[in-house]
Amino acid sequence: MPAVAIVGAQWGDEGKGKVTDLLASRAHVVARYSGGNNAGHTVQIGNEVFKLKLIPSGIFYPGKINVIGNGVVVDPAWLVEEMDYLEGKGVSLDGLRISEKAHVIMPYHILIEKLEEEEKGAARIGATGRGIGPAYTDKVARLGIRIVDLVNRDALSARLDVVLPIKNRVIERVYGAKGFAKEEIMDWASKLAGRIRPHVTDTSVLLNDAIDSGKNVLFEGAQGTMLDVDHGTYPFVTSSSPTAGGIAPGTGVGPRKITKVIGVTKAYTSRVGAGPMPTELKDETGERIRERGQEYGTVTGRPRRCGWFDAVIVRHAVRVNGLDGIAVTHLDTLSGFPMVRVCTAYRYRGQILRDFPANQAVFAECEPVYEELPGWPEGSCAVQKYEDLPANAKAYLTRMAELAGTPILIVSIGRERTQTLVLGEVF
Ligand code: IMP
Repeated sequence: MPAVAIVGAQWGDEGKGKVTDLLASRAHVVARYSGGNNAGHTVQIGNEVFKLKLIPSGIFYPGKINVIGNGVVVDPAWLVEEMDYLEGKGVSLDGLRISEKAHVIMPYHILIEKLEEEEKGAARIGATGRGIGPAYTDKVARLGIRIVDLVNRDALSARLDVVLPIKNRVIERVYGAKGFAKEEIMDWASKLAGRIRPHVTDTSVLLNDAIDSGKNVLFEGAQGTMLDVDHGTYPFVTSSSPTAGGIAPGTGVGPRKITKVIGVTKAYTSRVGAGPMPTELKDETGERIRERGQEYGTVTGRPRRCGWFDAVIVRHAVRVNGLDGIAVTHLDTLSGFPMVRVCTAYRYRGQILRDFPANQAVFAECEPVYEELPGWPEGSCAVQKYEDLPANAKAYLTRMAELAGTPILIVSIGRERTQTLVLGEVF
């Protein structure tokens, strides 16, 4: 009864969608446990590119169950849009299940986030603007609206009577903006609820039953370790726990049932939004990686900041997630460079740091300590077997694994489903 988790080992956008898509072919159930429509997963099937934000990547396989777990925050308008988009492409939604306990991103969350970010000025997080932070804030403040409320008119009405006056007071009196009328929100909800209701269930029961009856379950992480609210580059993080530890509270599956955790990392590093990134390349090399890797946000379209592979943060990811191995994506993107670099440690005011510091002012001053390795020619990664990769590319991967302290299980050498080399058994 393997329950395997895929988590991001960097700042998100590591190519988890593709790895999940690959493993989903062998899973019976695929479940998301954190984040919301701030995540963006790209899956290419043949010539068609699909971009998903909320619905797990397993949806492309008929007959699989795809779960949006209780730890996810759901913007119902985006969800319905995504459902329409998939149905329009002929993808069946029969297997879609949504936790009744997932919290809802309300229209006022999106407005509050915008107002907060404006207030922060230069110190803004660079949030995706989807209302993720305010929705999680309300969840822990016990002011949230859950899916079970959204799909029940009376429950929603009662909840809004408690919550909306508080939200409106903040919007109007703190920020001097215009609040929301209850009827406006009730109308908005009723247009969406009917479409969502048939998919709503107790997903904790579903997932535990699946595991207990020997089915393969895949947990699909969103974002990445460095965006984790506890273990990331706080305050430049998202408001949930994308690390493996987030799976238990985010799905209602006990931690002892998770049998394997795989981290996904690019062969280099990328980051969207604000905050320090020691290996960032603000030169032609960074530009070249961005163009070749098509490093533009799936959700916001923002150009991603690109740089060399940072082993310090991947080592951190191995530790805080308890990774069993890594999947390396975008190896092909690094082809054609005469040499490639890996950051093995940081230098801070003459001192060598092997682990990333919690203090962001210190982190911002950290300089990468690089090791240089020879590159491999353009086009040489187009192989069918790992053994056929160029020797320098294999040496690079071996060094990545050594520095990270965990084996490489999967190598991705292109966007297509078939451009994937599997080195170790997963399911
Ligand atoms: P939020 O999740 O919208 O609150 O944004 C907080 C930070 O996390 C910002 O720097 C975002 O750019 C970043 N972020 C959120 N989701 C993703 C993702 O899926 N990939 C990469 N960065 C993300």
